[in-house]
Amino acid sequence: MRKPLVAGNWKMNGSIDSVKALIEGIKAGVGEVKNTSVAVCAPAIFIPQVQAGLQGSAVAWGGQDLSVHASGAYTGETAASMLLDFGCKYVIVGHSERRTYHGETDELVADKLEAAREAGLVPIFCIGETLDEREQGITEQVVARQISAVINKYGVAALSDSVIAYEPVWAIGTGRTASPEQAQEVHAFIRGLVAKESIEVAGRILILYGGSMKPDNAAELMAKPDIDGGLIGGASLKASDFLAICTAGG
Ligand code: 13P
Repeated sequence: MRKPLVAGNWKMNGSIDSVKALIEGIKAGVGEVKNTSVAVCAPAIFIPQVQAGLQGSAVAWGGQDLSVHASGAYTGETAASMLLDFGCKYVIVGHSERRTYHGETDELVADKLEAAREAGLVPIFCIGETLDEREQGITEQVVARQISAVINKYGVAALSDSVIAYEPVWAIGTGRTASPEQAQEVHAFIRGLVAKESIEVAGRILILYGGSMKPDNAAELMAKPDIDGGLIGGASLKASDFLAICTAGG
């Protein structure tokens, strides 16, 4: 039985004051969350503050991106070891915003996933199709290509310690959520792809849904057999909404 995970992706939002309030709000309500793991992925600069606030609580934390390099002359980048130093458990890799605005390729994302995993972080590996790709009917081809980039280079073992997040790009920040049926169809396809390589990994891997997940649609989405939680953007910035999604997971 897979224990669901609900992770907040704060993206590039927050201030010292708002992060403090958000952390306090989440901590105050997380006791109501029974059978779901909870995490927040913060902008790198707030990670020390998040660590100080969440240490000893039931909430884990992580970064939103990392470098493929271990250290050195890579201005502006954050190494896996630095995230670990500040207690991170997770790191998001391959978010569509990084693929779109920073030109991250399938291959770079695969390398980031491996760098994270090798260092002992749990990568939250984001995949998903654009609206254009969905309308062309190539959703399955796109997610298969994104996953194959990892499996072909690093083997299915690279996924055994990872979390996958299926985030249809057309649902991110648009208020247009995939229906539970649409999401389940792709999640089942993704699990099937992994199962071709390893039934054991496929049975164990968490596949989160992301894209306008909100308190009012979370339970329905997470009730689907292959949807093991959510990666939450906008709704993770409000403690009550985020907690409502977490409790919808169980
Ligand atoms: P929204 O929940 O704001 O649609 O964002 C989803 C997302 O991109 C999480 O990584």
